[in-house]
Amino acid sequence: MSIVAQQKQITTNTGTPVGDNQNSKTIGQNGQVLLEDIHLIEKLASFDRERIPERVVHARGTGAYGEFVASGDFSSYTRASLFEKGKKTPVFVRFSTVVHGVGSPETLRDPRGFATKFYTDQGNYDLVGNNLPVFFIRDAIKFPDMVHAFKPSPVTNKQDANRVFDFFSNIPEGTHMLTRVYSDYGIPANYRQMDGSGVHAFKWINNAGEVTYVKYTWKSLQGVKNLTATEAIEMQGKDFQHATVDLYENIKMEKYPSWELYVQLLKPSDFHKLDINPLDPTKVWAESIIPLQLVGKMTLNKTPDNFFQEVEQSAFSPGTLVPGIEPSEDKLLQGRLFSYSDTQRYRIGTNFQQLPINASKVAVVTNNQDGAFSTRKGNGDINYQPSASKNGFTDNENYKYSKSNFSNTTTVQQKISKPNDFKQAGEFYRSLNETEKQNLISNLSGDLKGVTNKDVVKKMVGYFYMADSDYGKRLAKELGLSREDVEKIFLK
Ligand code: HEM
Repeated sequence: MSIVAQQKQITTNTGTPVGDNQNSKTIGQNGQVLLEDIHLIEKLASFDRERIPERVVHARGTGAYGEFVASGDFSSYTRASLFEKGKKTPVFVRFSTVVHGVGSPETLRDPRGFATKFYTDQGNYDLVGNNLPVFFIRDAIKFPDMVHAFKPSPVTNKQDANRVFDFFSNIPEGTHMLTRVYSDYGIPANYRQMDGSGVHAFKWINNAGEVTYVKYTWKSLQGVKNLTATEAIEMQGKDFQHATVDLYENIKMEKYPSWELYVQLLKPSDFHKLDINPLDPTKVWAESIIPLQLVGKMTLNKTPDNFFQEVEQSAFSPGTLVPGIEPSEDKLLQGRLFSYSDTQRYRIGTNFQQLPINASKVAVVTNNQDGAFSTRKGNGDINYQPSASKNGFTDNENYKYSKSNFSNTTTVQQKISKPNDFKQAGEFYRSLNETEKQNLISNLSGDLKGVTNKDVVKKMVGYFYMADSDYGKRLAKELGLSREDVEKIFLK
């Protein structure tokens, strides 16, 4: 038997054997191609529809499967089953860059996405975080504007520092995140050697319904490694998809990357202990006041078999939560709760949660039904609740959301209390060694030099000066600002 004879017979999308996959049906040797060549038309039509819209942010990414093993006992804080001591939970993780498109280099200065889907025995739980522990803004209402400023110009299709800093010169709370992004931490060497963070505060709820606020940190057991701007240029010249290659190769060599998950826990009655608002995602919670506690360890040990089906169609949401974990009142997080499933219904389709990568490992019991490409088995005639039928569904008040108490308050549209926009940016600056400080000044001034509106530049330098006077002065010097300019900024 020839090798060809052993191969599988190719079929149409409906399973019919195909007679010729190389030659279209034509009228004679030089005649037109016939529309009745059903296989040709189906093949071209399938091809025409291969792309779905890329993610509006975090378009470029890669992913891997693995397992999370809980090691601590946090039962007095949360009833989430995945954190029960010794519990093993399968996971899928997608790492990403943020601003540019699916084919963009993995060497760009950008936060890195670190999204984890835990397939728990109480349904899916998504921890959709980044490598950096803070964010640029603290209210979801600013997010579309911020992304517009970061993305290429709608006129020139080029990313433009003028637009980025025009926006940020009116966003003092961005000073902390910008300082981190322009430091060497803004270009992680790869996805394995970076930490992760949930950024926001969430709520853990225990069996008694008591609330503890929680922040998550992933610590890489490979250590943390970044690229300097020069190293990134060299890497990009050699391989613009090095981080994907690095992840796949290490898993192939059975050098399975792993991370420890830590939490910081804060009782609502202890909010006053911090000089910031604990619901402010532009801030970290000082580890000296709220120490990290080890929750468990995640190991990644398998790459996807099909990139499109498993990575591109994967859908994470900060609103995909399990009993025992709830969103905090963080205004950035509250907006995210809506945005992810909304974009995914548009990007992938209304039934995206039924795709294998997104489907929970436990049975989904629901009267939600139909829509494009529904494959979920219905519940016969009883697709409503309540019903006296033994085939009907029931809910369970044990799983009600936790209660919040509101009295004597009014709705407002205002900045949070204790904005403290600059202090942590300064602390981060002072934590860097001299080489890292020099790299930060050089990276940041490099982009600020391209900004033509000097008032924008002065305002930005003013923010960095407010964070740390040495930081501001060094930037001013690098940017050639005059003494008069500097005094105008600093003495305001
Ligand atoms: C992806 C919106 C802030 C981390 C996305 C996507 C949207 C979005 C629409 C694309 C999702 C998809 O197509 O599947 C927002 C909004 C934000 C916000 C409205 C603020 C209001 C953040 C923050 C973080 C973050 C603070 C980190 C803590 C991510 C990650 C992804 C993502 C990791 C990629 C998920 C994946 O790998 O599929 N975001 N985002 N985002 N976002 Fe956000």
